[in-house]
Amino acid sequence: MRTEVAIIGAGPAGLLLSHLLAQDGIESVVLETRSRAYVESRIRAGILESSTVDLLDAHGLAERLHAESHEHRGIYLQWPGERHHLDFVDLVGRSVRVYGQTELTKDLGRARDAAGQQFVYEISDTAVHDIETDRPYVTFTRDGEAGIRLDADVVVGCDGSFGVSRTAIPERVRQTWERTYPYAWLGVLADVAPSTDELIYAWHPDGFALHSMRSPTVSRLYLQVDPGTAIDDWSDDRIWSALAARLGHGQDGWELTPGPITDKSVLPMRSFVMQPMRHGRLFLAGDAAHIVPPTGAKGLNLAVADVGLLAPALAGLLRKRDATLADAYSDNALRRVWRCTHFSWWMTTMLHTTGDPFDAQLQRSQLTWVSSSSAAAQGLAENYAGLPIGF
Ligand code: FAD
Ligand code: DHB
Repeated sequence: MRTEVAIIGAGPAGLLLSHLLAQDGIESVVLETRSRAYVESRIRAGILESSTVDLLDAHGLAERLHAESHEHRGIYLQWPGERHHLDFVDLVGRSVRVYGQTELTKDLGRARDAAGQQFVYEISDTAVHDIETDRPYVTFTRDGEAGIRLDADVVVGCDGSFGVSRTAIPERVRQTWERTYPYAWLGVLADVAPSTDELIYAWHPDGFALHSMRSPTVSRLYLQVDPGTAIDDWSDDRIWSALAARLGHGQDGWELTPGPITDKSVLPMRSFVMQPMRHGRLFLAGDAAHIVPPTGAKGLNLAVADVGLLAPALAGLLRKRDATLADAYSDNALRRVWRCTHFSWWMTTMLHTTGDPFDAQLQRSQLTWVSSSSAAAQGLAENYAGLPIGF
């Protein structure tokens, strides 16, 4: 097999990249270990920043998003006895949209089907070769046949946090930074109308809680738990009573309405950045190069932003024989990656309890400052609603 761009991974980064490249007349093949049904039903992110929506809009990918997503002007920050609304539109003139990653993945998949995109699902043994030449290739196994070879001009690793493509960058040039947090999230999806109009991020002595949503009839909620937590230790009743306590059920008459839980999982919390995001003819985008803890909803948006920079860079390289943007890709992408890495770390450490009373006092002071000073609130709003793609 031969193509111009071999894309490893059919998550949001890989699918969006194949779409943007096709709009520039560049052919690609997308390789994926999982089945399409699995990729489309994996419950993950839910918040799109304004720059993500703008990019999808500009490329004709936001029709269903506009019809079915919900615009949120801001978020609530809360702690015992207090709840404050931060209005991003008033603060920085931008808003966010609630739209599940499952839905975005389906929209991208359909757009690629309509354009005749070539996909190879359910592969294994993916390996990247010869990236320091201008004839790189990928090998994989499919239906028991090993060593199938896809030749390309460029290989892009969009294979997420457990992918293999980043390991193809030689250790002598690879640099990584990592932080593991001493807590995890228990995430649940529930068939119940959200008890709030906009997301509630709650600090509580028992641990952080977040009330998010997917639609007017589906709520998404998270609880801070210990990293080794067994899901079986958390019955539905225990989950709802912890959520009620941490989210302030009864505070100023607010009530949390429980409902049937349809999905439960424990998510680890990790920051990870690797550089460079390009070596020779291999480029990395999205979780393949960086992971943020979920607080602040940056992971998916960062993957989209990488692709927003990478697509024109590859068009320059492959169509105009101009490597300027391709050579600048890693530095340009990493500038935004580090901004979002800091923001996600900051939101995480402001809201998660550590058991240390000094930390708790600092967190309460910071929450009070962000909720009462418009200068501080603007900083949060600017980062949350999203910096420009080329920040
Ligand atoms: P992915 O979506 O991970 O896609 C990578 C694809 O590559 C996958 O389909 C994978 O199967 C495939 N792949 C992997 N290895 C190979 C291989 N060797 N060969 C071929 N294909 C391969 N972000 C938020 O903003 N908010 C959230 O609430 C949130 N919740 C999350 C919950 C979970 C459980 C996880 C794991 C992530 C969550 N994230 C969240 C992060 C967000 O979902 C990711 O940042 C986003 O999916 C990144 O997109 P991506 O395309 O880079 O990677
Ligand atoms: C969601 C996840 C987040 O990490 C976040 O900060 C906001 C919302 C969500 O899954 O809806």
